[in-house]
Amino acid sequence: MIRKLAIAAAMTVATASVASAQDCTAITVEDAFDLDETQINVLYDCLQEKMATGYAKEGDDIGSNYRSWAATATRPAVAGPHGNRLLNTFANDVAAEQYLKFEEEGFEMPIGSVLAKESITVSIKKKAARPGPLFIMTKVGLDEAPDAGGWLYSGLQPNGKVMKVKQSFCHDCHVGWEAQDSLGYPLEEVRVTQ
Ligand code: HEC
Repeated sequence: MIRKLAIAAAMTVATASVASAQDCTAITVEDAFDLDETQINVLYDCLQEKMATGYAKEGDDIGSNYRSWAATATRPAVAGPHGNRLLNTFANDVAAEQYLKFEEEGFEMPIGSVLAKESITVSIKKKAARPGPLFIMTKVGLDEAPDAGGWLYSGLQPNGKVMKVKQSFCHDCHVGWEAQDSLGYPLEEVRVTQ
């Protein structure tokens, strides 16, 4: 038991300090919530180019451009929903000003707002992290999306292909934040402060 713990500790140090191409996606934790800031930054450094290249692969407009948008968080974080993945949201020009206020009521995002959220899938079983989908919300207005609070939910697979998305699946959860226009926002500790 003690030996096992020692090995685990040694591996954690190795994961945090050596970001080589082979092992930088390795994880030693038993739960995605146990990843600390250093480990998350190592994973993100290791995977971010692969993610961006993958989402852009099929030429999708959002998948090709979201990286030039406003960052809303200082690093990815695990919120729980979205499969315990590490999440990191970007806001386009139309969305950024309002979104970055992280207001809790009394506003509506302007039509044309787009939020694109990178995700990293953390496989406890495989002891490795890999790119997950790019989750997207586009404000199209109530005329076009009366049942989804005026939002169109979509996504790209890590290889850039369009995901099949059931609007009610996404919105049934997001509507829980109805007062803040169905937005979940990044965890408070990683929000970009203006
Ligand atoms: C079980 C609840 C749940 C479901 C289902 C869900 N989401 Fe989310 N979503 C969240 C939470 C919580 C956040 C905020 C946490 C974070 O981003 O760190 C969020 C954030 C987002 C964001 C960033 C904008 C924001 O809300 O701040 C996008 C884009 C997004 N989700 C898209 C989707 C799409 C597309 C689907 C369906 C394929 C979906 N979500 C399904 C809970 C959910």
